[in-house]
Amino acid sequence: MTQKLIIDTDCGVDDAIALLMALADPAVEIVGITCVSGNVTLDHVVQNVPIVLDAVGAGPIPIFRGAERPILAPLYHASDVHGEDGLGDAGFPRSTRPISDEHAALAIVRLAREYPGATLVALGPLTNVALAMAIEPNLPQLLGQSVIMGGAVRALGNTSAVAEFNIYADAEAAAMVFERGLNPTMAGWELTVETPMFWPRWDAMTAQAGTVGADFVVPMLEDLVRRSRERERPGILLPDPLAMAVVLDPDCASSFTAAVAVDTGWGPGRGLTAVDVRGNSKAAHNARVVTAIDTDRLAALLERAFRMSSPR
Ligand code: BDR
Ligand code: CA
Repeated sequence: MTQKLIIDTDCGVDDAIALLMALADPAVEIVGITCVSGNVTLDHVVQNVPIVLDAVGAGPIPIFRGAERPILAPLYHASDVHGEDGLGDAGFPRSTRPISDEHAALAIVRLAREYPGATLVALGPLTNVALAMAIEPNLPQLLGQSVIMGGAVRALGNTSAVAEFNIYADAEAAAMVFERGLNPTMAGWELTVETPMFWPRWDAMTAQAGTVGADFVVPMLEDLVRRSRERERPGILLPDPLAMAVVLDPDCASSFTAAVAVDTGWGPGRGLTAVDVRGNSKAAHNARVVTAIDTDRLAALLERAFRMSSPR
């Protein structure tokens, strides 16, 4: 039986790669893609998801428009990383795929009821997921599992000194999700930094790619790759693909469970994911923290995605 996936995304460049990884996997069926403001504006996200689906000629996967802004925080984007349009400003043609009238939060609830045991993969700020849990408190019980890209588990953030983007951008939503029992598996920022796809391997996999890799991934990442090389990164960082790898190949990951609390204060700790490694708080464990991912297995998932052919 295929694993059903509900993917929530703020579709920037690494979300796009994560989507391609899922689209390339015959063992999963994407039953819905829900869009949230994050890397770029919601309008861009809603344009980007269909562009990714067009790149591989995917079937009619339902796409839902979700939260336009965080629960309480001001809007926060990351177009410096993803380009103004969120797909590297590579000039991909706009898609004519339809966007559903149903709100993303309602769609998450409906799809979880329709496909009990489905996997929720959240690749952006957790606004839609928090709203869905407010509507349906039993969402965690309906889902089989949830995997998020989010958190800085040793407080080495990419957005503030201590916070990772997806949590920082909607800390209230993240706090709701952790406190109300979603029990997510977290692929966080430190894991991302520790799991670069080193340049020789990245260069080889893009050189040997099919048309999806050559005509979609390479132009989309041109700017990011150039900037990453200029900054002397050892390879490309792939936050959302790591979360997707945990879903598609669970044995590729090592992890432990812990109590995690999110700082929603407005001081320097905002968006911190405090992981109680030593059990000092005596709080119940409410998350699984991924500590390592096998790079060979990640590379295999990427290679399969990049080898796909674009429709003519
Ligand atoms: C996360 O923020 C975005 O830039 C990425 O898509 C990823 O979800 C990394 O902090
Ligand atoms: Ca993302």
